[in-house]
Amino acid sequence: MNDESMNILVIESSPHKNGSSNLLADNFIRGAEEKGHQVTVFDVARADLHPCLGCDFCGMNGPCSQKDDGGRLRDEILRADMMVLVTPLYYFGVSAQLKTVIDRFYSFTVKLDSRRMKTALIVAAWDSNEWTMTEVESYYDTLCRYMNFRDQGKILATGCGTVPMTSRTDFPQKAYELGRSL
Ligand SMILES: Cc1cc2nc3c(=O)[nH]c(=O)nc-3n(C[C@H](O)[C@H](O)[C@H](O)COP(=O)(O)O)c2cc1C
Repeated sequence: MNDESMNILVIESSPHKNGSSNLLADNFIRGAEEKGHQVTVFDVARADLHPCLGCDFCGMNGPCSQKDDGGRLRDEILRADMMVLVTPLYYFGVSAQLKTVIDRFYSFTVKLDSRRMKTALIVAAWDSNEWTMTEVESYYDTLCRYMNFRDQGKILATGCGTVPMTSRTDFPQKAYELGRSL
């Protein structure tokens, strides 16, 4: 590790293990690892993670009442210098799997927003209208503002409905370059 190397946590959230968004994430990871960063993947689509119950047992700053992979997720996020949110576009928002991760920030919101964490967003969508990514981008920007995240870049990959479609675009290269830029 060099002096500026970071621990980067990539949170993948597609039911397609070898789908479009994870292809973009792989390219990001290749670029980041070439720069000497340590990358860990948390694949929520294959984790045991349940939606926030809103029980307020945690008071936004304490243990969660649920005994699932949320504890591991919290530890991995709080250990990381940067977090990358990776998702297919589902009805103009993030996947339910990724939304579950974000809602589970609740029990450590106080710790997380004081860390001023670096973040990035990678989204794969089928369509390529100029408004396809408007809502998901706005949601992410608002989340960054509220949580004091410091955005390092967004890959808003339109026209990436399948792996062959994605491979024909320049978005894999852009994801690689984002990783290399860190
Ligand atoms: C439930 C569902 C909702 C979707 N909603 C959208 C959408 O709003 N806009 C869009 O362009 N594509 C939409 N898609 C297509 C996916 O975003 C697209 O195929 C993406 O490449 C899937 O990525 P993945 O292979 O990483 O899962 C949707 C697909 C599913 C299954």
